Amino acid sequence: MPTAAAKRPKVKHPFFARIYPRINAFAETHGGLDHRKELLADTEGRVIEVGAGNGANFRHYPATVEKVIAVEPEPRLRELATRAAAESSAPVEVREGRAEELPVPDSSVDGVVASLVLCSIADVPAALAEAARVLRPGGRLYFYEHVRSADPRFAKKQRRINMVWPLLTGGCNLDRDSEQAIRDAGFTVEQARHFDFLINGRTTPSSPCVIGVARKPEN
Ligand SMILES: C[S@@+](CC[C@H](N)C(=O)[O-])C[C@H]1O[C@@H](n2cnc3c(N)ncnc32)[C@H](O)[C@@H]1O
Repeated sequence: MPTAAAKRPKVKHPFFARIYPRINAFAETHGGLDHRKELLADTEGRVIEVGAGNGANFRHYPATVEKVIAVEPEPRLRELATRAAAESSAPVEVREGRAEELPVPDSSVDGVVASLVLCSIADVPAALAEAARVLRPGGRLYFYEHVRSADPRFAKKQRRINMVWPLLTGGCNLDRDSEQAIRDAGFTVEQARHFDFLINGRTTPSSPCVIGVARKPEN
């Protein structure tokens, strides 16, 4: 019998992997860099970053972080992340893997980082259950995600655009309520800042965003 892991399709998006570093660089010059710094400012101890992409977060980990295990399933992005890790002052180890099956033991990390990734993961409940498994009791999940708009008219537009969006963006979805998914997985959301990420003052389909921290219960 194949395991659940073996049954999951491989994450391989060569086109998206080629263009994502440029999309990200553009987003970073329009405010995305500050979002990453805000996300990571209070991280500490041992951290696992799920779906690390090309490693755009690595240079923003503070000195309070002892070790980052960065998991990335997409081969080209993982290669870029490995290069970014070599240039980063933070102690980052890049590993092949996916959020639904993290390659670390139970209760072995102080923090899990999810940035712009819950939109793309195929099985979000499984990924959040894994985040809870690997976190120590009281450990924190740091999240930065674009999400479904709270405005029903905008959310309807996002739903429509989402009929094609994932095909162009490596499986990214515009219409997920990731903060609610985090609560549904048993985390306590301690902070959540909602905002519209505008590009040159304009709304895009992925403008509605949240940056927050959620805690795994102590017992
Ligand atoms: C929009 S990119 C974000 C990359 C990075 N987290 C960042 O902040 O720039 C989405 C990432 O999710 C990854 N991804 C997709 N499915 C995944 C899964 N099941 N487990 C882990 N990562 C996944 C993709 O390969 C890609 O690197």
